[in-house]
Amino acid sequence: MQSQSQSPAVEMSELFPYAQGPALRTSQAHDKALEIIWENADSARFSYRWLRDHCACPECRHPMTRERLYMPLEDENFLNARPEASVEDGVLVLRWADGHESRFDAGWLHQRRPESRIDDGVPRAEAWREGFTPAHVPHAEMMGGHEGRREWLTALLRDGLVLLDDGPRELEEVVRIAELFGPMRATNFGARFDVQSKPNPNNAAYTAIGLELHTDLPNWRHPPDIQLLYCLENEAEGGESLFADGFAVAEALRHEAPELFLRLRDTPIDFRFQDEDSDIAVRAPVIEVDDTGRIREVRFNNWIRDTLRLPPEEADAWYEAYLVFWQRLREPRFRVDFALEPGQMVAFDNRRVLHGRGAFDPNTGRRHLQGTYLDIDHLESHLRVLARHATSAAPDTPTTSTNETGVS
Ligand code: OGA
Ligand code: ZN
Ligand code: ZN
Repeated sequence: MQSQSQSPAVEMSELFPYAQGPALRTSQAHDKALEIIWENADSARFSYRWLRDHCACPECRHPMTRERLYMPLEDENFLNARPEASVEDGVLVLRWADGHESRFDAGWLHQRRPESRIDDGVPRAEAWREGFTPAHVPHAEMMGGHEGRREWLTALLRDGLVLLDDGPRELEEVVRIAELFGPMRATNFGARFDVQSKPNPNNAAYTAIGLELHTDLPNWRHPPDIQLLYCLENEAEGGESLFADGFAVAEALRHEAPELFLRLRDTPIDFRFQDEDSDIAVRAPVIEVDDTGRIREVRFNNWIRDTLRLPPEEADAWYEAYLVFWQRLREPRFRVDFALEPGQMVAFDNRRVLHGRGAFDPNTGRRHLQGTYLDIDHLESHLRVLARHATSAAPDTPTTSTNETGVS
């Protein structure tokens, strides 16, 4: 476990603790890279250019902003950088041809071995397995301090869905919760919206009809990341909440029907929302992957899918894939359904987890949710800042094993 109480050998202008790694044993110069060996026998190779670029002296890295000042483009020695290296008092010291000197902390370098990932407290997404049940965190713990917030954030980022229990039945509580983490992400529906059946609805959510599983606002280039829905009243008959893990469904499709998966990945379609004031449209595929092939995003919302602009053969092939994906979304193995209670809030990753609701009968009682969105960056940031404290906790303070959440 790292500890801030141990002061670093070299100030690297870095707020995340790095001091307590293994000590340096030696360095060995190779043609293109410097090999570093630590006392615990870990080793790693760093390119000379990389080392020059990452010098943390006050000339190269601003001591207040902690941002990089060094500009490789303006250093004529950069491309041929090749220092003299030595280990002095446990510190890696590099002397460059132009006289510049760089000092590297052993623990800082150890965290940055090219093959390793810094465990910064932010968990990776883990697909739901059959029988998955979401974590519940009491409202009082969330408001009460670090541990509750860490638990709630970790579950949300790992599972894409988490519940908050036993909150007050108070208007705007959802805003107070959102603002623990950052400003709300505003959309054409405002920063904070009321979900209840309204006289002149401009959106299916503002009626009493059932809502098929969907993601919100796939018609935006960047749909909102995290949605919070806070239940104030739920007395009407019906209106239960439905969720499906879009990542798990897309993975299953990739496995079980690869051709259909590729069709949804490779065919951009149009999404569009229009009312008197706005017309927001984007062309994007239903399934988006990152450059390593991991699912990055699912866009699925049948009522704001726009005109399908495809030639007939492609259109028919696309419909086939769409229906198979949709059918899988409804399969119990990917699903979690429950009725929200007043004072309960559900939070989910809107670019991963699809949500919906059963129809309700407004004549049997009231149903009122308040919702808002948050950028996931605020939540990840909050966890990283919490992880700074976790790693500097006093020895007798129980610390969460962030390793467990760091691997999927
Ligand atoms: C929404 C929505 C679900 C509900 O507002 O986007 O999907 O339970 N609401 O009413
Ligand atoms: Zn420097
Ligand atoms: Zn919705």
